[in-house]
Amino acid sequence: MNPNTSLETVRVDLGARAYDILVGHGALTELGPRLSVMLKRPRAFVLTDETVMRHHKGALEGAVKTAGIHLDWYSLPPGEKTKSFANLEGVLDWLLAGGADRGDTLIAFGGGVIGDMGGLAASLMKRGMGFVQVPTTLLAQVDSSVGGKTAVNTPRGKNLIGAFYQPRLVIADTALLATLPERELKAGYAEIVKYGLINDAPFFDWLAENGQKVLALEPEAARYAVARSCAAKAAIVVEDETETGVRQLLNLGHTFGHAFEAANEYREDLLHGEAVALGMALAFRYGAASGITPAADAARVKQVLGASGLPVSLNGLDRERFAAARLASLMQQDKKARAGRVPLILARGIGAAYVHPDADLASVERFLAAELTEAT
Ligand SMILES: NC(=O)c1ccc[n+]([C@@H]2O[C@H](COP(=O)([O-])OP(=O)(O)OC[C@H]3O[C@@H](n4cnc5c(N)ncnc54)[C@H](O)[C@@H]3O)[C@@H](O)[C@H]2O)c1
Ligand SMILES: [Zn+2]
Repeated sequence: MNPNTSLETVRVDLGARAYDILVGHGALTELGPRLSVMLKRPRAFVLTDETVMRHHKGALEGAVKTAGIHLDWYSLPPGEKTKSFANLEGVLDWLLAGGADRGDTLIAFGGGVIGDMGGLAASLMKRGMGFVQVPTTLLAQVDSSVGGKTAVNTPRGKNLIGAFYQPRLVIADTALLATLPERELKAGYAEIVKYGLINDAPFFDWLAENGQKVLALEPEAARYAVARSCAAKAAIVVEDETETGVRQLLNLGHTFGHAFEAANEYREDLLHGEAVALGMALAFRYGAASGITPAADAARVKQVLGASGLPVSLNGLDRERFAAARLASLMQQDKKARAGRVPLILARGIGAAYVHPDADLASVERFLAAELTEAT
């Protein structure tokens, strides 16, 4: 069977900056033909990390070989620390040394770290060179490669230096995920479930039924889940590219989740997607405790996320590190928090999320304290 027959294309309809996301097992074979049309000369720059390079350099080279495209490689150590200003400068210097021009293209080949930094480098290089994303983590395929947010971290905080810069093409080849550690896969899966919870109850139902197939990377199921997620994010981004309104819904589970990540000092025993899964379960339970969310929906969210092995309760967490007062004070540091109130994404049910503009942090703290008391 020609694997290309099972590719799905998601169009991100941003007018002059519109682009395609190609999704499916084997989608990478499309890279050569697509790049040929895009490039002014048969050469492209590839930014990656050492782990992705080790596993998949051959696959990317193979994908452009028949098109006769030469690739210039630059790889960085894996991990969030790589997303630094110093490394950004290194990437720009490599591009300059290689004679990169506005007509050239930078391919970000890796997870969200490489995608975020590659996008920012491309936006800065001679005020903007071509940019293509080939995401290799599930999180990057369904989230960070869609929407054009790029950034690096500074010691003062995460993602503080960045730009909106859209790629010209995204290729999400689910076959590349076969080498991804299981926890990373599940962390990305949490963001998939998020789209169902925001505004697509039928998708949530489908995931409740088929989630294991997605996590087992069965080609059809993985393609469907990734494409539907990209389409969901694309629709929100098209409506609100620079996050002044509806794009905030993508933060479902993130205000709680970020507080847990920060309280944990970003240690790797709580991955971002794991914190988001916990945060979504908590947002639904807080909604239920506040009379906003049907209790049965909160229970179902917990059950479905928990069944895929994601954290959904405070069981087993360190009581001091994750003390309710500490978490609430971290939530207070949200840049939109005002006078003891913080915007929270809550839900009137599964698939019915909305921006609750002024959740009372004292009540959030009481809720977290009660959750901790209940936890084992
Ligand atoms: N721009 C956005 O809209 C957006 C959205 C969400 C997250 N992000 C950013 O994305 C980053 C997180 O992305 P991530 O979870 O992909 O992390 P990551 O890029 O650090 O990748 C996670 C780990 O998986 C490894 N890896 C990647 N692909 C692999 C593969 N195919 N096989 C084996 N190992 C592989 C990496 O080397 C790394 O160790 C954060 O910096 C976050 O801020 C950005
Ligand atoms: Zn997230």
